[in-house]
Amino acid sequence: MAAYQHITVEACTDHLGAEVAGLDLRQPLNDEVLGELRAAYSQHSVLFFRDQDLTPEEHIRFAQSWGEININRFFTAVEGYPQVAEVRKEPDQQVNIGGGWHTDHSYDQIPALGSMLYARQVPPRGGDTLFASMSAVFDGLSDGLKATLEGLNAVHSSRHVFGAAANRPGDLNSRLGNAEAATQDAIHPVVIRHPLSGRKVLYVNPAFTRHIEGWTDLESAPLLTYLYQQAGRPEYSVRFRWQPGSMAFWDNRATWHYALNDYQGERRLMHRITLEGCELGR
Ligand code: SIN
Repeated sequence: MAAYQHITVEACTDHLGAEVAGLDLRQPLNDEVLGELRAAYSQHSVLFFRDQDLTPEEHIRFAQSWGEININRFFTAVEGYPQVAEVRKEPDQQVNIGGGWHTDHSYDQIPALGSMLYARQVPPRGGDTLFASMSAVFDGLSDGLKATLEGLNAVHSSRHVFGAAANRPGDLNSRLGNAEAATQDAIHPVVIRHPLSGRKVLYVNPAFTRHIEGWTDLESAPLLTYLYQQAGRPEYSVRFRWQPGSMAFWDNRATWHYALNDYQGERRLMHRITLEGCELGR
């Protein structure tokens, strides 16, 4: 219990990200600590923990203290632990998982809350992950564009990314599977009201958003491209440098993320647990 009294939460930028120190995630969390973490998560959208030493069981227990675990349909699971997805790249593989801006599970009508990514093995250099604050991106738009976006919905899908017809580079195929399960299509507001913070958040992403509802792909593309350019601006992002034992816990409804693929010839092995979320509204 005493160890819990020294938690510190240090913001990484004004927009997002905080390093949480003073916590051993193997220990059960009391209500007070959980409350502090929930408040920090709502405020900073991604929490970073260092120097953890977690077995898959302990990782699962930490995740369960937060909410219900989502079993990933498409990622290879850690053997014996269907709740833990592997995010792996071997030295002889060229393509990484998550190597472009995206937010997970927007193709689900009830998208996942977020993921807890735990570093087991990382390259000596490279393999950082970028996160972007999608509420800061929304706040940075003009009032006129904000008003337009607030009246729109967007269509998202898993089919073109995880389905049989997906145009995936070959060496990714050994790490992803179950293409026949890629049948999800979902419609969400382009601007959601974040279920925890109450902030307005731009909720479209280059990986899974197909088009604006009621618009053709061609009509949607210029607007989406503009929004994606804005979201990619460095001032909205934070970059996390991994060490073995680091954990990042991000909120899918508030952030995008991007796994950098700048470590060819090295191995990177992460364990990811994703948590169930809720329906998103305006
Ligand atoms: C992911 O997109 O979930 C993977 C992120 C990472 O490996 O850094």
